[in-house]
Amino acid sequence: MHASFSKWSRQYGMIFSLKFGPGDAIVLCDRKAVHDLLDKKGNVYSDRPEPHVAELLGVKHNVFTTSMNNMWKEKRKVIAHNLSPAQLDNKHFRVQEAEATVLMNDFFIKPESYREHIRRYTASIIHVLIHGYRATSSEDFWGHAVYEIMERRSTCLEPGAIPPVDQFPFLKYIPEKLARWKGQARDSKEWTEKIWGEARDRVEKRRARGDKRDCLADVLLDDYDRNGFPMSQTEFNLLLGEMIEGGADTSSSAIATLLLALAKYPDIQKKAQGEVDKVCESERSPVWSDFEKLPYINALVKEGLRWRPVAPTGLPHRVRQDDTYNGMLIPKDTNIFIGVWQIHHDESIWKDPATFKPERYLGYDKLASYYAGSSDWAEYPHHYAYGAGRRICPGMHLAERNIWRTTAKLLWAFNFSEPTDGSGAVKSLDTEAYVEGLVREPLPFELKIEPRSKEHMATIQKELLDTEKFLRAFE
Ligand code: HEM
Repeated sequence: MHASFSKWSRQYGMIFSLKFGPGDAIVLCDRKAVHDLLDKKGNVYSDRPEPHVAELLGVKHNVFTTSMNNMWKEKRKVIAHNLSPAQLDNKHFRVQEAEATVLMNDFFIKPESYREHIRRYTASIIHVLIHGYRATSSEDFWGHAVYEIMERRSTCLEPGAIPPVDQFPFLKYIPEKLARWKGQARDSKEWTEKIWGEARDRVEKRRARGDKRDCLADVLLDDYDRNGFPMSQTEFNLLLGEMIEGGADTSSSAIATLLLALAKYPDIQKKAQGEVDKVCESERSPVWSDFEKLPYINALVKEGLRWRPVAPTGLPHRVRQDDTYNGMLIPKDTNIFIGVWQIHHDESIWKDPATFKPERYLGYDKLASYYAGSSDWAEYPHHYAYGAGRRICPGMHLAERNIWRTTAKLLWAFNFSEPTDGSGAVKSLDTEAYVEGLVREPLPFELKIEPRSKEHMATIQKELLDTEKFLRAFE
């Protein structure tokens, strides 16, 4: 879809509309329009499309899919508070640092499984913060639960898997025996409820043993057990799960993209390692408090999200009432897409947009949340990977910190290169080979991972010892 949006923007202009069944969709490939409409008129442009498909999949009340109602506000408040920069930097940083150290060790012990390690790592951090449990491996419940849910759901969301129910809601009344897709959707719904129900059971059993932990589930349960639940038990289980769903595969996809780019462009890798080495040699790995001293790593992270945005068409926003923009009517209930891919590859904004070039972000050393929504939008080379307006990703602070830490630590510890065959010839990596979908991630690729020195590996073992006791408390 993102490629079609780009093509049509060249044909019809940077703002164009589409007919989706009886409904309208408008695609904004223009930064000013994104700012004028989504950022500045958030009260009008922040609903989501009618959630018929979401209802079938059992995620109608999910914070991603629900419209701007009180429950959405409450959920965003919970997420924004618990994943705020202050909470992350004063409290949650220990989990992130410790898990990033485990990740380095996993790369050292079993480099060929690097993709599973990344998936375990992103899931583990968010599970610790939400459920108080860490994923000790990709096989344990906390390491694979979210990915099973996402896989089942994405099968249903593949193009053509479910007919256009959002556009033609009567389709949802077709009996299940005539509509195999309804069975698949029900299966995905039941699976989601089962898995997040099991997560809740594990939390309750732990609490019953007197083991209360510093995590969101325990904070909310203490409150709701005392004052009553503001939602059903299933919705509560799903609320905790939604944050895991938002945080796991998006971040792991962004990290995989960076590894692909580092292996493909060794000069960029060397430059980044040069910066890291100036700040810490082999006796310690980089930590978040080094952020200001490592602007090239920040630029790398931003460039990865520009070059290969995880959600290249964002999530649609629905318009609450008729509006006009530059003489164009934007009818109530229109779905608005940000043409993220097109904006990120627009030659009038970026020089050589197809090239991976972190340098374009040097001098713009703050985090994405600073640039998002800024009235000086034209001054900054901002990316739209986290969306825009009131629905902008509330997990962006956590995501950026995780991706930055991983990138800095892995570059400090390892050299990444393209694999070679038996005769030593390089097997060139394809930077276009991606799994298409709502979350776009590189297809599995072989990666050569080599420790930079024995001293670096010894430091990882030392840092691992320091983290063990802390992490054991979440097992
Ligand atoms: C690289 C990592 C990530 C990317 C690229 C990403 C991207 C996005 C995008 C594009 C949206 C839609 C924004 C819009 O509608 O304009 C979104 C929404 C959301 N994201 Fe993220 N995200 C990431 C990580 C996370 C993490 C770690 C969490 C953890 C909680 C999270 C939670 C959410 C939630 C709850 C929403 C729904 C917000 C709403 O509809 O009000 N995301 N994200």
